[in-house]
Amino acid sequence: MAKILVTGGAGYIGSHTVLALLNKGHQVVVVDNLFNASYESLVRVQKLANKSLTFAEVDIRDKAALSQVFAQESVDAVIHFAGLKAVGESVQKPLAYYQNNVEGTLTLVEVMKQHQCYHLVFSSSATVYGEANQPPYIETQPLGNPTSPYGKTKAMVEQILMDVAASDQRFKITNLRYFNPIGADISGDIGEDPNGIPNNLMPFVAQVAVGKREKLAIFGDDYPTKDGTCLRDYIHVSDLAQGHVDALNWLFNQQEGCCEAFNLGTGDPLSVLDIVRGFEQYSEQKIAFEIAPRRSGDLPAFWADSDKARSQLQWTPVKTLQDMMVDTWRWQSKNPNGY
Ligand SMILES: NC(=O)c1ccc[n+]([C@@H]2O[C@H](COP(=O)([O-])OP(=O)(O)OC[C@H]3O[C@@H](n4cnc5c(N)ncnc54)[C@H](O)[C@@H]3O)[C@@H](O)[C@H]2O)c1
Repeated sequence: MAKILVTGGAGYIGSHTVLALLNKGHQVVVVDNLFNASYESLVRVQKLANKSLTFAEVDIRDKAALSQVFAQESVDAVIHFAGLKAVGESVQKPLAYYQNNVEGTLTLVEVMKQHQCYHLVFSSSATVYGEANQPPYIETQPLGNPTSPYGKTKAMVEQILMDVAASDQRFKITNLRYFNPIGADISGDIGEDPNGIPNNLMPFVAQVAVGKREKLAIFGDDYPTKDGTCLRDYIHVSDLAQGHVDALNWLFNQQEGCCEAFNLGTGDPLSVLDIVRGFEQYSEQKIAFEIAPRRSGDLPAFWADSDKARSQLQWTPVKTLQDMMVDTWRWQSKNPNGY
């Protein structure tokens, strides 16, 4: 078993991945500045796993503090979630996004090198395919030109990591391109807890169901899709978390230096209305919604070709639409105000 340092491990995907790592018997060191998370998520993760972890409240851009964590812990690999993720906000605050996501990663990789830690799993995103590539997105397509600063930071970091791996054969890196993570751990004790108005569909739907928001706005119902609403590839967060465990195993088995991209999606697109109807069916809650104008920058449809992750990482997403809806509702109804 290995010691894994997880940046951003108190956040939504991070906390589910930390749980999966502890359940597999790994030791975990979480580094998080708690900018968009609560330490309570990690209290609950430790309770669920019945194991403890090490936590450092550190900003990954603080090189000295980060280096101290690496000096204290003998880390075998890093899973790097820490960053800002709101597409719309990134248009308003590009510098904050480049600083956190690009500069933060540069600092992290420098410190890893200093401490001879060469295994890295990076949280990338389907947004790196940009607008020109046609779905289903496949890793052999070229990196696109994402429209938002957020998307650009992900594409830039992927390029930086490719250069790092090419320059130093000791580095073994995976760029995991997430599609649309939703759902929560089956316990309902950890889940997505956005600050303020949710940017993503699923937490918005869940907050309407629990009475925190009046109604959902569906942005556009005149897209060229089966019901006119946008199609996305929704992936249960616990399947996504397992993808990180599988990616680590794959990295540890590589003989040569590498930097490989993998799509983590189901390959099964669902529309916004599929999600709303599915949630109503499985939670038995009514979701009030209205059709609003299209949102600029939204693509009509994209989903993953996930064959590469399935065959090389031996990753198999197992959760159903019902699991995604039931688990979301269990989390939201048990924790109407989040953590
Ligand atoms: N959720 C999605 O839909 C989605 C899709 C694709 C990619 N991603 C990427 O996955 C990663 C995790 O996403 P998430 O949904 O769990 O987000 P999140 O905001 O819940 O988690 C990110 C965590 O990083 C921490 N953090 C941010 N900046 C930091 C810094 N400078 N130093 C230390 N900690 C810092 C935050 O406090 C938070 O705990 C992000 O990199 C995100 O861009 C997310």
